[in-house]
Amino acid sequence: MSGKREQWNSRLGFILATVGSAVGLGNVWRFPTVVVQSGGGAFVLLFLLIVIIVGVPLIIAELSLGRASRKNVVTTFSVLAPRTKWWLIGVFSLITVFIILSFYSVIAGWAVIYFLGSVLGIFTGLDSIGLTAINQQLISSPTVPVFGQGLFILLTVVIVLVGVTGGIERISKIVMPSIVMILLVLLIRTLTLDGAIEGVIWFFRPNLALINFNTALDALGQVFFSFSLGMGAILTYGSYLSDEEDIPKSALIIGVSDVGIAILMGLIVIPAMFVFNIEPGIGPAVVFVTLPAIFNTLPASIFWSSLFFVMLAFAALTSAVSLLEVTAAYIVDQIGWSRKKAAITMGLAVFAFGLPATLSQGVLAHFTILNFSILDFMDFITSSIFLPVGGLLIVIFLGWVWGTQKAVSEIKKGSPRFALAKIWSFLIRYIMPVVILYIFISGIIG
Ligand code: TRP
Repeated sequence: MSGKREQWNSRLGFILATVGSAVGLGNVWRFPTVVVQSGGGAFVLLFLLIVIIVGVPLIIAELSLGRASRKNVVTTFSVLAPRTKWWLIGVFSLITVFIILSFYSVIAGWAVIYFLGSVLGIFTGLDSIGLTAINQQLISSPTVPVFGQGLFILLTVVIVLVGVTGGIERISKIVMPSIVMILLVLLIRTLTLDGAIEGVIWFFRPNLALINFNTALDALGQVFFSFSLGMGAILTYGSYLSDEEDIPKSALIIGVSDVGIAILMGLIVIPAMFVFNIEPGIGPAVVFVTLPAIFNTLPASIFWSSLFFVMLAFAALTSAVSLLEVTAAYIVDQIGWSRKKAAITMGLAVFAFGLPATLSQGVLAHFTILNFSILDFMDFITSSIFLPVGGLLIVIFLGWVWGTQKAVSEIKKGSPRFALAKIWSFLIRYIMPVVILYIFISGIIG
């Protein structure tokens, strides 16, 4: 393609957009949910270990691949390793992105609905039983969640149309600080409720008996999902990055912000579940019941709850945009469609593909055997299987095909010292492939 490739307008813009991609439903919805399902502290401990050994080093890897090639997720591999088949990683990524975006918009659609519901005051004054009932009613309706999902996808398409640097940078600048502010309010509120401390202990104290390969695979999947790793989203953002940018430092900022927000959410949701006696059994919607219960203990609950859900929808939007951008960047570069045609077509396809997941919470639930949820299934195969496999391939590619030396010189363009170059290269070549493969295989068969 002719012309100069778009670049981020500022350093802050890039950081905010990448943090915006990382921070989303993965932190606010998925993290507390998985913690609840996997036994608390043990999971949290594994999660943090994997963040350090795999998560942050892989952000560095993806950013350097993207910046070195300045291409989309498929072409990056054919440019860096011509006449090989490694570009197939990119094709695999495109499929993964598509599935993730499809179920992601379903949950994000719930956030949209909860925003509207909050404004209308339908959650005010309800206790946890009432909130559970209304949640089931909302998400199992055949029309309401489809509306939320559709509206959310529409917004995502619009932002991608405006272009990466214009659209994404601008909303991230507002959303990220607002989210942190509301979360701090919620944190103070929850921790000052009677009985919250039990939840805090449960969250931090690792019950070692609960550590097994399934927990480890859950933790691995959560790190990939939450950091947007393993399928080229961070890589694509790296392709718009200027040479002066300090990649390791950026990776650290992204990692710390993402983990920080996840922990904050855990410390809000889990103690609140203890306080309000909320059953984890209701599954993926548990966070959507717990949060309104906290809001109802605050003065001006309608205000806080509307503000929170609109910000959650926006946080999800900055993540969804990064997913759609991966496919749009590919189609624009490779097939030569206009941005507009690419974004709209993909948006429609994602909507259609997500419909069974939306409806499986209600209408289709009657036909499903053994409580099989299409939504959970799409989440599981992408987070616990496709992303780790994608991440493994990326790490092997970088470590053994393209070479860590080339990566290190790419990184040094903007970070001349890169003091941890040796350790990072060692992690990439030896430790990360083994750790990912080991957890993956044991988790699948165990
Ligand atoms: N990380 C985002 C979240 O936590 C979701 C996301 C955006 C993502 N891009 C991704 C997940 C790429 C996996 C891969 O909500």
